[in-house]
Amino acid sequence: MKSDSASKGNVVSNIPKHIGIIMDGNGRWATKRLLPRAAGHRAGVKNITPVVSYLLEEGVKCVSLYAFSTENSGRPKDEVDSLVDLIRKRLKPMTRELIERGARVVFSGDRTYFPTDVQKLISEVEGENTDPSSSVVNIALNYSGRSEILRACRLAAEKGEITADSLERELFTHDLPELDMIIRTGGEKRLSNFMLYQAAYSELFFTDTLWPDFDKKELKTMLEEYTARSRRFGKL
Ligand code: IPE
Ligand code: IPE
Ligand code: MG
Repeated sequence: MKSDSASKGNVVSNIPKHIGIIMDGNGRWATKRLLPRAAGHRAGVKNITPVVSYLLEEGVKCVSLYAFSTENSGRPKDEVDSLVDLIRKRLKPMTRELIERGARVVFSGDRTYFPTDVQKLISEVEGENTDPSSSVVNIALNYSGRSEILRACRLAAEKGEITADSLERELFTHDLPELDMIIRTGGEKRLSNFMLYQAAYSELFFTDTLWPDFDKKELKTMLEEYTARSRRFGKL
């Protein structure tokens, strides 16, 4: 194992290369405090930079964040509007800090759903660091795992034969490492259409902690458990 993480005194030796986070529980976090759900989403956004910064410091090369599913667009209009507005207001400040820490920010999902000013923000953030050697923060916005697979099949078919390689080249994650680990906060034990193709051999972690309350301490415990798990990939 390469020891660039060990030399920094990091918590685990075989740190996962790519972690996906299903950031669930914002609404319940707010409701518990008698606040509107939008306040929970704001608190959730505030928690992104500390959690992702910690993972990057620990040597994780890529963090994929499930921020808005295609199905989330079917929520009541006021909630969808507040989520889109939060992206409009917070995407740049939030990603600036991560980019300053050396990360490249990319996006997965169908961005054409969003108003043109938000699409422009997304492109601008993407353009700020394009260095392929940087660590990556991949934000899933209007993302659906099934749609991603369907889109990849179509694009691969347009170019020729569909093979595992030609299909994987058309996934949003084509240049990202294998998804080693998925964390879901908020108590539900399901993937909710997140990275279905990539999740084939991911180690799954579930916690009842609501996303705005999820912190470094719990993350450290999960990373330690990840190290202790035996990943066999179907072999003996
Ligand atoms: C996750 O929190 C964030 C999004 C889906 C946008 P929720 O909004 O699903 O919060 P809960 O699950 O209702 O508590
Ligand atoms: C998954 O959470 C989507 C995000 C965290 C962005 P949901 O709250 O939408 O999922 P379900 O409805 O509990 O499956
Ligand atoms: Mg939820």
